[in-house]
Amino acid sequence: MMANPKTPTPTADTVELIKSDVKPSGLEKMRVVGGCRLNGKIKVSGAKNAALKHMCAALLTDEPLHLENMPTGLMDVRTLSEVLNHLGVTVALRQDGIATLHAGTITSHVAPYDLVRKMRASVIVLGPLLARHGKAEVSLPGGCTIGARPVDLHLKGLEALGAKITLEGGYVKAEAPEGGLVGGEVNFPFVSVGATENIMMAATLAKGETIIRNAAREPEIVDQGEALIKMGAKIEGLGTSEITIQGVERLHGATHSIVPDRIETGTYMCAVGLCGGELRLENTRIDFLTALIAPLKEAGMDIQQDGNDVTVKRNGAKLKGVDIMTEPYPGFPTDLQAQFMAMMTLCDGAGMISETVFENRFMHVPELCRMGADITVKSNSAIIRGVEKLKGAEVMATDLRASVALVLAGLVADGETIINRIYHLDRGYENIVEKLTAVGAQIERIR
Ligand code: UD1
Repeated sequence: MMANPKTPTPTADTVELIKSDVKPSGLEKMRVVGGCRLNGKIKVSGAKNAALKHMCAALLTDEPLHLENMPTGLMDVRTLSEVLNHLGVTVALRQDGIATLHAGTITSHVAPYDLVRKMRASVIVLGPLLARHGKAEVSLPGGCTIGARPVDLHLKGLEALGAKITLEGGYVKAEAPEGGLVGGEVNFPFVSVGATENIMMAATLAKGETIIRNAAREPEIVDQGEALIKMGAKIEGLGTSEITIQGVERLHGATHSIVPDRIETGTYMCAVGLCGGELRLENTRIDFLTALIAPLKEAGMDIQQDGNDVTVKRNGAKLKGVDIMTEPYPGFPTDLQAQFMAMMTLCDGAGMISETVFENRFMHVPELCRMGADITVKSNSAIIRGVEKLKGAEVMATDLRASVALVLAGLVADGETIINRIYHLDRGYENIVEKLTAVGAQIERIR
């Protein structure tokens, strides 16, 4: 493997640096003063939902994995670094977005409750750990409280590759057969991003062929598959609903640049829809956001692509109410539903939002209503009737995307909005205060 000269090798110092950085700042609230228009440029970070999976893939090889465009400032990245550290992986995260992970020797096969409870994506260590090490114990995951979010598909998929799985004391205990995992057919009854990734990683080192049917097609999965191919994996069908993996003896190190965060991009697009103004979002991929751009344009926004940048504009007129329905990719992303809803609160007329991916993903609704929004929820649909104004209030962040929806609402509300429990926000939005301040927002962290 050719090492990239820019990438660092992990040292005890850099790993220590990560550990000390993980401590909470003590500033747990956000104060937003509404009334700004947003103007300027924002550089989009690497995708959180790809980064976390790439980090887990480091478990599949004893050689270093170099990752570029890594959102190293995210709390989820730091949390997963701790989980991986616990398993024996050295992790070096640099502020300039370069990371090196090296799983020379796996020193533990247990991902403990204390670390996993903070983040559901930790369950993705299960597949790679099992494939490389033959056994894995992972605490049942925590993370955002949106719906029941079981992991049954992950477990059934691994069983199809020969794993023996038991649930004991809140832990998933998985063991590969003697001689390792074997390829198999995995037919998912519905689409799951995490289960597709877990099985895809496990299958890279299983003996023979694995076929995943009804696989998720998210760009982050394609990105992960491409990185695995650079590591020596044999994968076909990425971006389609049938992925075929031919297992190989071993994987090696590689260098990979992580795709831009389409959810962060979409969030700032909705912010312009709400506040007005003009933002140039740099270093992104607008082709990942077709399902968002169509309703944004229908609502009245002006969106222009220029290479890897996109300019989003709303001048003057109110946005028109439009209807959307969340679906697996390439449908409208559930991770942009709350932000789109915040944007619709001030629309002309009404819009309907149907959530089909997660149950119970309307926890931002009562909080938006505290700020003066007019939203009625019936089962998995919400009707948003546009109001003249939102008013600042004290509100509570309940999950990652719900929190950012409240920030967006605060940017346009009259007066001051205080958002509690912003640790949710730090899990997934890199430098959000700095990025929004630079384009004219009044936003700060407070105690
Ligand atoms: C990933 C994303 C998350 C996004 C979601 C859907 C990461 C770190 N997180 O989450 O931001 O909102 O995709 O785009 O990438 N389900 C089961 N059994 C399972 C697995 C899932 O019933 O074993 C259900 C879930 O409860 C949910 C649906 O399937 O209702 C989709 O979940 P899934 O695609 O697995 O989401 P995650 O991978 O957890």
